[in-house]
Amino acid sequence: MADLGLQNKVVVGELALRKSGKASFATTSFKEAYEMDFNLNEDQLMIQEMVHKFAEKELAPRAAHYDKTMEFPWENVKKLAGLNLMGITVPPEYGGAGLDSLSYCIAIEEISRACASTGVITAVQNSLAEFPLYKFGNEDHKKKYLPLLASGEKIGAYALTEPNSGSDAAGMETTAVAHEDHYILNGVKTFITNSIAAEIFLLYATVNKSLGHKGICCFIIEKNFPGFKVGKKEEMMGVRASGTCQLILENCRVPKENILGAEGDGFKIAMTTLDVGRMGIAAQAVGIAQACMDQSIKYAKERKQFNQPISSFQLVQAMLVEMAVKIDAARLLLYRAAKLRDEGAKFVKESSMAKWFSSETAMECAIKAVQIHGGYGYTTEYPVERLMRDAKVTQIYEGTSEIQKLVIARNLLG
Ligand code: CAA
Repeated sequence: MADLGLQNKVVVGELALRKSGKASFATTSFKEAYEMDFNLNEDQLMIQEMVHKFAEKELAPRAAHYDKTMEFPWENVKKLAGLNLMGITVPPEYGGAGLDSLSYCIAIEEISRACASTGVITAVQNSLAEFPLYKFGNEDHKKKYLPLLASGEKIGAYALTEPNSGSDAAGMETTAVAHEDHYILNGVKTFITNSIAAEIFLLYATVNKSLGHKGICCFIIEKNFPGFKVGKKEEMMGVRASGTCQLILENCRVPKENILGAEGDGFKIAMTTLDVGRMGIAAQAVGIAQACMDQSIKYAKERKQFNQPISSFQLVQAMLVEMAVKIDAARLLLYRAAKLRDEGAKFVKESSMAKWFSSETAMECAIKAVQIHGGYGYTTEYPVERLMRDAKVTQIYEGTSEIQKLVIARNLLG
């Protein structure tokens, strides 16, 4: 176990070196296991193989335990940090692996295939906490916070949603009032992934509600700031180990230097962050869908009815085929969005397309997987009932399926 960890850390570390032309690697044969390479390069295939093996060995065996107990999976997070996967796209000068978006998506898919809670924890850390700090932070913000997050020493969270402001993010009610060298924040945030464990929060509040989205600001909040409190933990249907809680701000004092960007930049920071974040959720959904298919193929070959494996029945085969085709399509949409981002092209529409299609696919595959497992699929004896619960949230968080359609339509129609 320890050997695998050490070897993998070397792989991620050396990939970062290799990007800068300082190391080289032999090709792996892992792509054959997938039967298609999706045009992944050698580095991306290596990440895929490494994270797949790690997740199978270290994450999958504990997934049911974390789902049942709702404990934050610290053991998983520490191991992922040891592999440099808590700061996948952060440049090495700030402590990250410096890899591209596609590598990030591949890693999240493989992690989520084994444990969806760990998948969303890693996705939020990478894309909702580190990305906005790197993209919009000043040098002081980056130096102070990015190495802590990228190393996994501290957990980050993104606090946008409120009890009365979900899809209508600009309708938030949390206020920020400037006072001497501080802002004073008051309000409640809800459904905040990672918040049971997080110490650094990217939190949104308005300095003037009458300005609509133009009054919104993004603040970097440390857990120990006076007036900041983590509230009740949500007992959720799926991703139950994701440490999702309420946050309460009662005259919370935030130093003025902890504003990200300028006053009024917050909404655009939030939206730009979600464009990237939605690819992480798409990757999580592809991972869950793939796990549904893996489990279904295994079960269908083992389970005998009418003196033959149920995999020999064409109606079962049809379900497997529909799963396989949609998973491939979802993955290709995801890879396209990630590649566009890596090439510096526009990817807002493509990110929402990938998120919408992948999450719908995850849910459909989960329903089919439970159906193939019959009565057993409806019990906790097999993982498909957990996968079905985990799949559902991918249609909801980081923008519901309906919001993804709205974003796609606005981009189509101009
Ligand atoms: N990038 C940059 N700027 C953007 C943008 C984007 N993707 N989308 C919109 N904007 C800009 C617009 O250009 C506009 O700017 P101007 O004023 O300069 O013209 C401004 O933002 C306002 O845009 P809209 O008029 O489109 O805003 P809207 O109020 O109609 O909202 C919305 C748009 C797409 C519905 C948005 O509110 C939204 O995405 N809602 C869903 C919120 C969401 O996804 N929440 C998830 C919570 S986080 C979570 O779940 C994380 C977790 O824990 C896992």
